[in-house]
Amino acid sequence: MNKSTLPSSIDIAAPGYVQHHGVKEWVARIAALTKPDRIYWCDGSQEEYDRLCDEMVRAGTFRRLNQELRPNSYLAWSDPTDVARMEDRTFICTEHQEDAGPTNNWQSPVEMREALNSRFDGCMRGRTMYVVPFSMGPLGSHIAQIGVELTDSPYVVVNMRIMTRMTRKVWDVLGKTGEVVPCVHSVGAPLEAGKSDVPWPCNKEHKYIVHFPETREIWSYGSGYGGNALLGKKCLALRIASAMGRDQGWFAEHMLILGVTSPDGHKSYVSAAFPSACGKTNFAMLVPPPALKGWKVTTIGEDIAWIKPGKDGRLHAINPEAGFFGVAPGTSAKTNPNCMASLHSNVIFTNVALTPDGDVWWEGMTGAPPPELLDWQGQPWTPESGRKAAHANSRFTVPASQCPAIDPEWENPDGVPISAVLFGGRRSNTVPLVAEAFSWTDGVYMAATMGSETTAAATGKVGIVRRDPFAMIPFCGYHMGDYFGHWVKLGKTVAHRPHIFCVNWFRTDASGKFVWPGFGDNMRVLKWVVERCQGKAHAVETAIGWIPEYHDLEWAGLEEFTSEQYKVVSSIRADDWLLELDAHDDLFESLKARLPRELMLRKELLRLSISD
Ligand code: GTP
Ligand code: SPV
Ligand code: MN
Repeated sequence: MNKSTLPSSIDIAAPGYVQHHGVKEWVARIAALTKPDRIYWCDGSQEEYDRLCDEMVRAGTFRRLNQELRPNSYLAWSDPTDVARMEDRTFICTEHQEDAGPTNNWQSPVEMREALNSRFDGCMRGRTMYVVPFSMGPLGSHIAQIGVELTDSPYVVVNMRIMTRMTRKVWDVLGKTGEVVPCVHSVGAPLEAGKSDVPWPCNKEHKYIVHFPETREIWSYGSGYGGNALLGKKCLALRIASAMGRDQGWFAEHMLILGVTSPDGHKSYVSAAFPSACGKTNFAMLVPPPALKGWKVTTIGEDIAWIKPGKDGRLHAINPEAGFFGVAPGTSAKTNPNCMASLHSNVIFTNVALTPDGDVWWEGMTGAPPPELLDWQGQPWTPESGRKAAHANSRFTVPASQCPAIDPEWENPDGVPISAVLFGGRRSNTVPLVAEAFSWTDGVYMAATMGSETTAAATGKVGIVRRDPFAMIPFCGYHMGDYFGHWVKLGKTVAHRPHIFCVNWFRTDASGKFVWPGFGDNMRVLKWVVERCQGKAHAVETAIGWIPEYHDLEWAGLEEFTSEQYKVVSSIRADDWLLELDAHDDLFESLKARLPRELMLRKELLRLSISD
């Protein structure tokens, strides 16, 4: 694309403090393609944030919430066709299809670039193209990465300011030639002359979330929602970063990170991978039951972890994000008091309901619903309406610094040393409350074969187990078999490897009810986990790993939970596990071209010990 094709009236000059020639040239090239009316270079200031929010209030995209009840907070209602990530419109474009693997949508880079060029041609007409500089991870940290997102959505800009370190200082770190991931985003709704805008512009027909892991580029078209549009999050910090980590010797994971302090003052850090909407935010901010005196949990992150071997022979993790983009429904003072307390002010809510006094509400926030609301589509709602007031994937965007449980080390540029890694999905049977892997490779096997049951909200069908290795199925930027291999291999180079565990909060009884109380009581499992890492807790050996006996867990304050109930959540049944292994066979069959041999062997061993 030639610069001369730019409309002569628009100012493409970068501010003087932008020294990076590559970025300046790229911005001009994308502007020539997308043809915005204006280019605006964001500085990430509070003044800029407030101004963009005001503009969105005037445009009808944002509604200002009651200044007394929810200071400096806004509510957005999206187009009903643009409410979640779209996995079937997410593409991994590698030169060779095998490198993307069978679990990703692949398209050839040449064909995809052609398609993108025609979609993006003129797609920003009538709009402003914002240039958003951001750092994933503390600015200047050796684990951090820099991105620049070009977007025609002011909603994306203000969300990026909460979710990333979006600041002018990024340009200083970049200098003239620093490494940067270019991210191009458009809602795909050009405003032709005279056409008026809608509150939530998007493209109802065409959506593309495209990654070029080999050249480290992201292109997203047609959606303004969450992970489709806030490109620092799933696109950069997981799909592109997973490929970087493979090449450079680190891990990019769909994991929370928390700190645990025991009554004797010993502090350890734990990370945990659960699939989307399976409780990362809840676990990251866990409040221990009062009877477990002296135990404390602090939050480093609740969605993504970047983990790198340190000079001390341990794995160190950072949270690359600066905010939480969390699921609203189900969040309450009872289930997650730290999260509720984070949401007092400076929040962007998307697709929750509006109360008559200008505050927000969602299913599960309070015991009884308010008598009347406007639902997430702006329609009058009463408890008798028979439909959800908030969308099941409605979310809040809030600065991590507002969490009362935020860990003092959460911005440490070197990260925190990880003692244990947990993997867990929703399983109504088969998988016990907790089990510790016998070894690193065995732990990788546990994570690789992880499954999770679908919820009614996602598919309409309940209880279908999908394999979601490492909770990374939607987020791995390369072949899943190679990803397993990377885990096996990198672990071997680390002197003090974390212990690996699988957990399951979701076992049900004959009537389909959860047996394990979960939430704060998950502290009982976490206590056992950190004590296992210190060699202090007892366990028994089973075919699948070490598990605690009833008396190995702390029951103070939960004496009513009987050893019979414990059996229901911790039993390992041979018949269940033989079926489970058949599902592992299917997964491994699909990945066999790149599957590490160690995992095949582990599976055969497991089958033998279960059949014993
Ligand atoms: P993403 O942001 O989509 O990656 O998801 P997340 O893993 O952060 O999900 P979140 O914490 O928002 O998950 C919320 C869902 O998990 C709600 O349905 C909660 O009720 C449920 N949940 C969380 N913790 C527990 C628990 O200990 N027990 C049970 N039964 N449900 C839980
Ligand atoms: C997830 O789906 O795992 C999320 C939400 O964390 S989004 O950022 O939209 O991907
Ligand atoms: Mn997530």
